[in-house]
Parts: sequence; structure tokens; C-alpha cells
Amino acid sequence: MVNKEILNQEFIKSIESEYIFNNAPINRFNKKHDSNETFKELTQLKDKIKSIEDCELKKFSKNMVFSDGSHKSSLMIVGEGPGDTDDTQGKPFVGDAGILLNKMLNAINIKRENVYITNVINYKTPNNRRPESSEIKRYSVFLREHISIISPKILILMGSTAMEALLGQRLKISKERGRWKEVIINKKTFLTFLTFHPAYLLRQPDQKKFSWEDLKIIRKKIDELKIKL
Ligand code: URA
Repeated sequence: MVNKEILNQEFIKSIESEYIFNNAPINRFNKKHDSNETFKELTQLKDKIKSIEDCELKKFSKNMVFSDGSHKSSLMIVGEGPGDTDDTQGKPFVGDAGILLNKMLNAINIKRENVYITNVINYKTPNNRRPESSEIKRYSVFLREHISIISPKILILMGSTAMEALLGQRLKISKERGRWKEVIINKKTFLTFLTFHPAYLLRQPDQKKFSWEDLKIIRKKIDELKIKL
């Protein structure tokens, strides 16, 4: 079998598509956080990503960028991957896109430190190019584990890379944004929302009006679900 087909099959297996058609009940109740256990699992995942081999991205990065914010949060945000500033500081969303993300969160009364932020890719790409599909597939395995550990009540995917990592390549963010979806990971369903990436909004400020609509939908859901942030 050609390499690409094997990769595709592995990816389809990893998204557990069979559960979408399974009659068995899906556990929609996310686990209660045991903070120590979560911390231990996150450390193990971090070590696993640090020890990745044969990764071009890792070779050219200063730091592995894992996450920021509260691991107890019910709201998890997934971006694409670190930029230069993030790579230097070892933290996601601390450059220009991060400044806009902070403003977006503030606009709906959320403090950045009360959410949990990560990326699909944990290392910077050369010249900040978009990660390749093979890289997205490779790192999406870690991302899925990451989501499973944090077990958020709401998962926000920002941009097409995060969307591709969890929902595959066929969708277009401009069509899918502003909608709730269900993503199944490790037999659990995660309420997931797609929206534009802040870096895209910096390049296309006229799209901010759609982003604002999305932010209001997210706020409404947080209030409906009585989520404390
Ligand atoms: N910084 C990040 O950490 N992630 C992005 O997707 C963009 C900038």
C-alpha cells in the first residue's frame, strides 16, 4: 500500500469514526478534574512530545510550546502552532496573534488565564509556513490526548489547521465557522466550535465582524451551560 493511503487509514482510525455510527451511548459527561492526576498526565504528554524523533520542526525550534492557562478550565482553545515570539518564550499565543486573542477573550468577559490554550503543532515551522498535512496528522495524535486529559466542556478550534487536525481536510473554515460540532475522542464527545484564527483576522480585518458573531455565540453557550471561568 502506498504511504499516503497508510497515513490516511491511520488518521481515520485515530478519529474513531466508527463511534459516529455506533448505537452505543456516548459518554457526554466529562470527567471531574483531579488536578494532581491531570498535572501528571500533562507532564507525561509533554515528555512524549519532547522525545519525538525525526521531526524537522523540532530541529529548528528553540523550545517546545505546550500550553498556557489553567488546566482546570472548562474552555480549551486550539490554535495552529507557535510563531517566533512563542518559540522564544516557550508559550503559545504571546506574539501579535496572542495579543488579538487576549482582546477577543476580553470582549466576551473572559480572562486569558482562566482558559486553557494549546496548538496543533508544538514546534515552530520554518519561516512560519502552514504545517503540512503529514505534520498535522502526526501531531494530532498528541492533540487528541491533550484534549482528553483537559476534558473541556467547550473546545474552540481556531483556524483551518486546528479544524483539519480534528475533522479532516475536506472542510473549509469559512463555511464551517460559527457552528457547533461534536468531536469524539477516546469515546467521549466534546462540544466543539469553529472560528477564525486571530492571525487570519490580522491579515483580513474585514472578517472581524464574523469573528465577533462567533464570540457572542461562544459567550451565550458558556452562560447557558453555567460554566464558571
Ligand atoms: N501563536 C500560537 O501559539 N499559535 C498560533 O496558532 C499562532 C500564534
